Amino acid sequence: MSAEPDPKPPIYLDHHATTPLDPRVLEAMEPWWSDDFGNPASGNHVYGWRAEAAVEEARERIAGVFGAESREVFFTSGATESNNLAILGVAEAQGSVGRHIVTAETEHPAVLDPCQHLEGQGWTVTRLPVGKDGRLDPDRLRASLREETALVSVMFANNEIGVVQPIETLASICREHQVPFHTDAAQAAGRVAIDLGGHLIDLLSISGHKIYGPKGVGALFVRRRRPRVRLAPRQFGGGHEGGLRPGTLPVPLIVGLARALEICAEERAQENARLLALKQRLYERLREAIPAIRLNGHADQRLAGNLNLTFEGIDGARLLLALKGLAVSSGSACASAKPEPSHVLRAIGLSEKQARSSLRFGLGRWTTRDEIEQAAEIVIAAVNEVR
Ligand SMILES: Cc1ncc(COP(=O)(O)O)c(C=O)c1O
Repeated sequence: MSAEPDPKPPIYLDHHATTPLDPRVLEAMEPWWSDDFGNPASGNHVYGWRAEAAVEEARERIAGVFGAESREVFFTSGATESNNLAILGVAEAQGSVGRHIVTAETEHPAVLDPCQHLEGQGWTVTRLPVGKDGRLDPDRLRASLREETALVSVMFANNEIGVVQPIETLASICREHQVPFHTDAAQAAGRVAIDLGGHLIDLLSISGHKIYGPKGVGALFVRRRRPRVRLAPRQFGGGHEGGLRPGTLPVPLIVGLARALEICAEERAQENARLLALKQRLYERLREAIPAIRLNGHADQRLAGNLNLTFEGIDGARLLLALKGLAVSSGSACASAKPEPSHVLRAIGLSEKQARSSLRFGLGRWTTRDEIEQAAEIVIAAVNEVR
């Protein structure tokens, strides 16, 4: 029996959902799976010491990328856990001071859901609307702050429309009012320069698998001085990570996270320029061929590799089906199991119908010019077919 050759895999333009592991990251992780398998918490022998040294070196390097101190980096399983720890941890620590939290309508469910959980426990949550370009007006944030506001959480860059928020301004307003400021930087880390030494961010979440690193690892940065952010743990046992996030540390994943971040930092400027040119090429080709295309989100203040488009009058579900050669998304991957149209697109003023007629393209490290030309042809053919 002769095996059928594999069909050509679809062109991957869904890098906001996840990214492939960079071979350089894989190489860095390799020894820590089997040869050096020790538990960093084993203080009595060389297996443990070597693992602990690897974790601490990775922590230093991650802190270095963000201009932070290594004692401000706490390892987690990803940005979902980091966001939960930041929001619920500050809430637990600050609960008696104030029970008000401020966030934005366009946040990821990993921020919106813990906020909703707090609401169920009697907290007040302000979900700020954004403008048509997806950006939050700093004056709106200022006006929302109250005496009892315990935390503000606004994402750095959006996972659907790629919009980058005016984080420095938002963080400085919070600092003026002495309210801790958290940002979910799952999409921004590695793509936008983030200097925690200079910025006034108090808590920052990152994730390995969005930056060509491994899945199942992330970090939460927690400011330790001027001011020291008070955070209570959300799980208990073992006392790892200063008791804030107990559990045996996944050494290979942590080593991979550090390497992935460093590669992003080293290549960022060049890579962003490359992605921007490719994205513009895709947009131009689609715009020329398909009338009534609309770009969602701010034209410039967005991630270089993100393009989010509405194809007016086209049914998005049918369009996705016709796009067999292309791996793209009609919203965030986390929300696509739900039939509701994207809450992000609704928040920037799209009707339900328009939101359902939208696609997110996310270009990445190995996206080529040739793939972009092919992708344009596939989309144009699919739109003509569906129309
Ligand atoms: C903005 C944002 N926050 C949080 C997450 C969740 O990250 P993780 O998969 O690491 O839990 C994602 C990933 O979908 C994201 O895009």
